[in-house]
Amino acid sequence: MSLSLPVLVFDSGSGGLSVWKEIVALRPDLSTLYCADFEGFPYGTKPDSLVAERVTGLLARLIPRYHPRLVVLACNTASTLLLDDLRQRFDLPFVGVVPAIKTAGASAEPHRICLLATPATITRPYIDQLVKNFASGHEVIKKGQGDLVRLAEDFVRGKPVDTELRGIVDDIRQEAVDAVVLGCTHFPLLRAYFEQALPEVRWIDSGEAIARRVSHLVGTLRLDQTSPAWHEAVYTGPQDTPWETGVRKWGFQQVSQVPAV
Ligand code: DGL
Repeated sequence: MSLSLPVLVFDSGSGGLSVWKEIVALRPDLSTLYCADFEGFPYGTKPDSLVAERVTGLLARLIPRYHPRLVVLACNTASTLLLDDLRQRFDLPFVGVVPAIKTAGASAEPHRICLLATPATITRPYIDQLVKNFASGHEVIKKGQGDLVRLAEDFVRGKPVDTELRGIVDDIRQEAVDAVVLGCTHFPLLRAYFEQALPEVRWIDSGEAIARRVSHLVGTLRLDQTSPAWHEAVYTGPQDTPWETGVRKWGFQQVSQVPAV
């Protein structure tokens, strides 16, 4: 039997789960497919051409196989690089995830804001444009963080992360900022830790806004829904049993490697 999985959520790894979780919380009726490209992970320290090749190549395999009606590119690194290209190439709606600088910039008082994102995301011209358009009255500092991406992956696999996290949070504390924009979808996975360590800081991510956008868009599509909702996760690379076990706890009924072509 072929199931209808109308929403495909895509990331280099587990980060997109932070967005997936918000979508499923808002729309428990929707069935989903989650894809983690562990073979290409991490995207945030790779050349742009390689990231573009991986994302495009993998979507070109997944879309004809699973027939999603909408794709959520739950990766800031990829969205700030190639969302327009993907929209031109594939004939279905794409929702991208970009750092919530607009939300942070909406505060009336001038603030010191930290954009915490991958080393690749902080260099994108797209980010400078976001800051110019939505946060020009604030001081915005950018921090590229690759280790935090890896720690979020460890967290999903049930490994201890506290000691390393403490060092990273100490570094953020030194910056004395009012708000931190979690500009990588991996980072909200560690939100509980951040909030506990630095409760005076406002931690902002894009997850809820993306879920609202997805809910609006699916309302415009005529969906053939499975009831109850079915959630499937696929990943590239070698078999990863700790991830399979970790992700089943999130509510995925089926987890497997991306089938060979
Ligand atoms: N989760 C991704 C993002 O939002 C990418 C992390 C990585 O692969 O480096 O940027």
